Amino acid sequence: MSISGPASDGSTSKVAELDDPKPEAGQVAIDVAYAGINFIDVMARRGDPGYASGWPYVPGLEVAGTVRALGEGVRDLHLGQRVAAFTSGGGLAQVAVAAADVTVGVPGGVPLEIAAAAPLALSTAVLLLTEKARIRPGETVLMHSASGGIGSVVAQVAAALGSGVRIGTVGRPEKVAVARATGWDEVFSRDTDLPDAVSKIAPDGVDVILDPTGTALLDLDLMIAAPGARIILFGNPRGGTPEPLPPLGRLIGGNVGLLGFSMSRLNATVPALVARALSTGLDMIADGTVRPEVTVVESLESVAAVHDLLAAGVGNGKYVVKLTR
Ligand SMILES: NC(=O)c1ccc[n+]([C@@H]2O[C@H](COP(=O)([O-])OP(=O)(O)OC[C@H]3O[C@@H](n4cnc5c(N)ncnc54)[C@H](OP(=O)(O)O)[C@@H]3O)[C@@H](O)[C@H]2O)c1
Repeated sequence: MSISGPASDGSTSKVAELDDPKPEAGQVAIDVAYAGINFIDVMARRGDPGYASGWPYVPGLEVAGTVRALGEGVRDLHLGQRVAAFTSGGGLAQVAVAAADVTVGVPGGVPLEIAAAAPLALSTAVLLLTEKARIRPGETVLMHSASGGIGSVVAQVAAALGSGVRIGTVGRPEKVAVARATGWDEVFSRDTDLPDAVSKIAPDGVDVILDPTGTALLDLDLMIAAPGARIILFGNPRGGTPEPLPPLGRLIGGNVGLLGFSMSRLNATVPALVARALSTGLDMIADGTVRPEVTVVESLESVAAVHDLLAAGVGNGKYVVKLTR
């Protein structure tokens, strides 16, 4: 079996032969057909605190494939079943283990390469908009990094939930068209005058702001927030210590909610919520409400190059890797 994993200096990755992981009680082993590639892998690889459980580390937080073995006590899944699962690391592998309670059957007609983008990317989109933002019909949504893996499904999920206008921002002008193609109504490169551009589209401000850029854009977020807005922080792509949060007066004065989101912590504390979001996401794919586009990387050997693209901020859309044996 070969697995892609980072070296302990956080700067290199290699494909290696490891023993197949065995499912413990409450877990399943999955023959992985496709695994999602995520920016969080990059954060683990470069050694950001809290992202890799130890070295050497096998990255990968989302897979789709077939059930290979059941751990003790697992009753709701069966051998050979097509599943998608949130993995706590170890997903970029031919065989991965996942907790059974965050492993969900893939509806017939949903290809496994698309299902592989559901456990982290699509579920995050669903949970950000529903559990965190508690979006209401007609509300305006703005997301930074709108052309990325998460960004490329958020606009479609927001539309499915009945949102109002959907605005994306991207770090480079060449990403504007990429983001637009995934369903954002308006997309701005962040080298434009964003408060001015946004105010023309959302004169009363933005109700839901999804910000994966750490605290770098928080001042802007507060400037464009509508009274009663929810700003959700869920990333730190530059690594390091983020800037302090804004003074209390700006939150109180704006009636603005500042919220944090961590899929890994939800997975550890409320797995049923994560599984429900995963099922919702897969159903949205099955009924055509959401049509994730994925770039399929043909082998584990190519994954490190995709991580390098993401690390440099020049990736586009969602990447999954095909596993062969
Ligand atoms: N909290 C959670 O549970 C959770 C779950 C999933 C993802 N996330 C976060 O959501 C974000 C998107 O994840 P993804 O996997 O879909 O990645 P991605 O969007 O495909 O790639 C990361 C994007 O971050 C932006 N970025 C901003 N500053 C950057 C920097 N200093 N270096 C590199 N990239 C930078 C770039 O887009 P622009 O240049 O267009 O801004 C880049 O394309 C990541 O920050 C990730 O950590 C959080």
